[in-house]
Amino acid sequence: MKYFITGCAGFIASNLTDRLLQEGHQVVGYDNFSTGLQEFLENAKKSPNFTLINGDLHDRDLVTQSMQGCDMVFHFAANADVRFGTDHPNKDLEQNVLVTFYVLEAMRAHNIKQIAFASTGSIYGEATVIPTPENAPFPVQTSLYGASKLAAEGLIQAYCEGFNFKAYIFRFVSILGERYTHGHVFDFYKQLLVDPSKLFILGNGKQRKSYLYIQDCIDAIQWALKHSDDKVNIFNLGTDEYCQVNDSIGWICDYLQVKPELNYGGGESGWIGDNPFIFLDCSKIRKLGWKPKLSIRDGVMQTIKYLHENPWVLENRT
Ligand SMILES: NC(=O)c1ccc[n+]([C@@H]2O[C@H](COP(=O)([O-])OP(=O)(O)OC[C@H]3O[C@@H](n4cnc5c(N)ncnc54)[C@H](O)[C@@H]3O)[C@@H](O)[C@H]2O)c1
Repeated sequence: MKYFITGCAGFIASNLTDRLLQEGHQVVGYDNFSTGLQEFLENAKKSPNFTLINGDLHDRDLVTQSMQGCDMVFHFAANADVRFGTDHPNKDLEQNVLVTFYVLEAMRAHNIKQIAFASTGSIYGEATVIPTPENAPFPVQTSLYGASKLAAEGLIQAYCEGFNFKAYIFRFVSILGERYTHGHVFDFYKQLLVDPSKLFILGNGKQRKSYLYIQDCIDAIQWALKHSDDKVNIFNLGTDEYCQVNDSIGWICDYLQVKPELNYGGGESGWIGDNPFIFLDCSKIRKLGWKPKLSIRDGVMQTIKYLHENPWVLENRT
């Protein structure tokens, strides 16, 4: 198969790129390196089956031209930062909604009918049902990021109905592991490297969150593609557990052998739009036979180990 992967230099899609190349597929990767890193493509670039297009998805001609000859699209590029939506309200609309439309139109131009999309558990807003299933009551949105991903999901679903596309929509919890470059484990680790005697935590530390290890995430994506065959295939992807932010602080501090003074920003939420309890019901994909190999604690440990062994990643991020 020949896959077109948007956001191929990012955390999740670079790991996906490597996996597909290892399996002998061809990959055309597309990225503008706004948050992605060339270093994440070092393995991929060694493969004759990999083509890198350095471009922005707003360049519709380049997107359309680059997609020529591909069989399926993984649309993973986005503004993946949930926290700063209200600082720049255009960003989620432009990077998450409009580019999804451009990707769909480029697919249509080439008669490519299959798309996998990286969505998020954030689309459930402050969920009324926890653990939250895919068919939860239609959610009220609490973040611009979640709203933009839900809008993109809607466009994709409408293309399935209108143009006979087939879609795989994955609503991830927070993903951890190799090439992780943003999120609370990253923030805590970075703070503790600078000053191991104190740690600032957004919110009261009691926020309950769910996480999934990157290789488990990729296994699940591939499993769903193989075992589900509806017109629109929507899957929550996560583990069957959650932890408190305070738990992960404890694990990180144990790993680093530090005992910082903990300073809390206070409040149930870390920031506007932060959902204090995210826990997805993943029984739909579990019933297909997939299950995660790593626990949340193991995922946090793998992440810290990766950051510890790759200090250059921290220098590339503010
Ligand atoms: N990391 C998580 O925990 C998580 C959780 C839920 C959903 N997601 C979703 O998964 C996807 C991947 O997330 P990630 O954590 O790997 O993020 P990331 O920031 O590491 O990767 C996004 C990639 O897209 C590229 N990109 C962004 N806008 C672009 C544009 N206009 N044109 C071309 N390239 C562009 C970036 O340079 C980057 O390489 C995103 O869609 C994100 O919303 C991530």
